[in-house]
Amino acid sequence: MEDRVAPLLLDWYARHARDLPWRTPPGIGERPDPYRVWLSEVMLQQTTTAAVAPYFAKFTLRWPTVEALAAADEADIMAEWAGLGYYSRARNLVKAARAVAERGGFPDTERELRELPGLGAYTAAAVAAIAFDRRAVVVDANVERVVARLFAIEDPLPGARKAIREATDAITPAERAGDFAQGMMDLGATICTARDARCLLCPLSALCRGRAEGDPLRLPVKPAKKAK
Ligand code: ADE
Repeated sequence: MEDRVAPLLLDWYARHARDLPWRTPPGIGERPDPYRVWLSEVMLQQTTTAAVAPYFAKFTLRWPTVEALAAADEADIMAEWAGLGYYSRARNLVKAARAVAERGGFPDTERELRELPGLGAYTAAAVAAIAFDRRAVVVDANVERVVARLFAIEDPLPGARKAIREATDAITPAERAGDFAQGMMDLGATICTARDARCLLCPLSALCRGRAEGDPLRLPVKPAKKAK
């Protein structure tokens, strides 16, 4: 079943991708701008797409390139970030922009991206896949939920994360891993949501073990509550 997931998902994404500002299509055959991909992914850590959109617009208008951001005053960046929360992200943003400008551009592998300030495993994988078309395994909370349901992974979180990661690896295609990751995110955000499993609209429903077993909504299983 693993090799049947990506073609169905990519076909669905081509028709139903959300129109998000950082996805503004480049010219035919061009890659998306790594600066915009990186900036959006850092902003989207722990923050919703709706909250991020106006900040992303302000930042890219004021600092259209990573070199511009690297040359900015940290105080101005912190002021523009105000309201978005998790301020260590903004401090790391400045550091990473300066490191990237210094080395003459973004590195294009997951391993090197991981070395930039503020890029954890998720963000490095997302930027490698989306900006550079690298095959990287991208697991955020939406992907986690979709995969736990698709494979009917019964272990509770957080212990299930290893199995979820391996299952995501098994379905990630060699090509278009960035579209695949964003398609999985969109599926989790719009169809296979925490409150709802709109299986009749889901491109993966015929493959879904959670659905076959009758109650996909109970997955992923929440961590057991500690006894008081
Ligand atoms: N959440 C984090 N990154 C995202 C992306 N590229 N598209 C949609 N939602 C996201």
